[in-house]
Amino acid sequence: MHGDIKILSGSNSEYLLQKIARRIGIQPTSRIVSRFSDGEIRVQIKESIRGDDVFIIQSTNPPSDNLMELLLLIDAARRASASRVTAVIPYFGYARQDRKDQPRVPISAKLIANLLQVAGADRVITLDLHADQIQGFFDIPVDNLYATPIFKDFFTSRHSLDPDEYMIVAPDVGATKRARLMARYFGNLPLALVDKRRPEPNKAEVVNIIGSVENKKLLIVDDIIDTGRTIAVATNALMEAGAVEVRVAATHGLFSGDAKSILDESLIKEIVITDSLPIPKEKRPERLEVLDIAPLLAEAILRTHDARSLSALFL
Ligand code: R5P
Repeated sequence: MHGDIKILSGSNSEYLLQKIARRIGIQPTSRIVSRFSDGEIRVQIKESIRGDDVFIIQSTNPPSDNLMELLLLIDAARRASASRVTAVIPYFGYARQDRKDQPRVPISAKLIANLLQVAGADRVITLDLHADQIQGFFDIPVDNLYATPIFKDFFTSRHSLDPDEYMIVAPDVGATKRARLMARYFGNLPLALVDKRRPEPNKAEVVNIIGSVENKKLLIVDDIIDTGRTIAVATNALMEAGAVEVRVAATHGLFSGDAKSILDESLIKEIVITDSLPIPKEKRPERLEVLDIAPLLAEAILRTHDARSLSALFL
């Protein structure tokens, strides 16, 4: 055993920390995350965690200070003689650069994995990693949770999800596995695939739609909404191909740049995401629904602490 559960967070995931702590029924561990005069980050854990099972919650979306806070908190916990340190990373940033697909590019996800381990993380809990194989970049256990059950509860409470009426859509080839999983989980709904190309980073164009979407209600499934272009152009193409309506379920809402206006002007009927990331009000598109991820993370933390299986949470 690893002593008592102690949970704390970086500043980016403070709102999740509060909800998770309430759910578990413990107080968050007191810590300072502040700045030195020159802007460098200063952290300090304010109570003893010696011999304890420490969970540090922080999504690592930009700015990189979010990642830096997490690394510093892990280092602080390790040096404070925590028995075990688990990094709980609801959104794992830099995951999209996970292979050397062009000359002279980094494998960013591997570098982040190295940094977390060097800082002293013993385990990682994360949610809908961009690619499952990123787990292999770590030499420590990584539990990659799925938001699928949360989406299922949401959609089944509002829609019939009749397989004659509804289809699941992968907005690009990379999303096929995730979409297939969702289709099976939603009662074997039929699947369509959008063949998307990126002429350059942050641009998206549809080349082809695989599967007949005519007269169907569609649910696009993706892991990330960043600029919103992938789902906006996919929706245009799907509506042109005769779809009745298009909704989107995506785990992580980054909504960078012009995402709000791109999505507000799009034909998407509803966008459903989780609160894995904080989303400022002014970046929130209209027709957005945000689902609470804290119960899933709290359960994963409790099960990890008790050395109980997490597989029931995976699907
Ligand atoms: C790409 O492989 C991802 O799964 C998402 O489709 C992508 O990150 C979405 O980006 P954007 O919203 O900028 O099109």
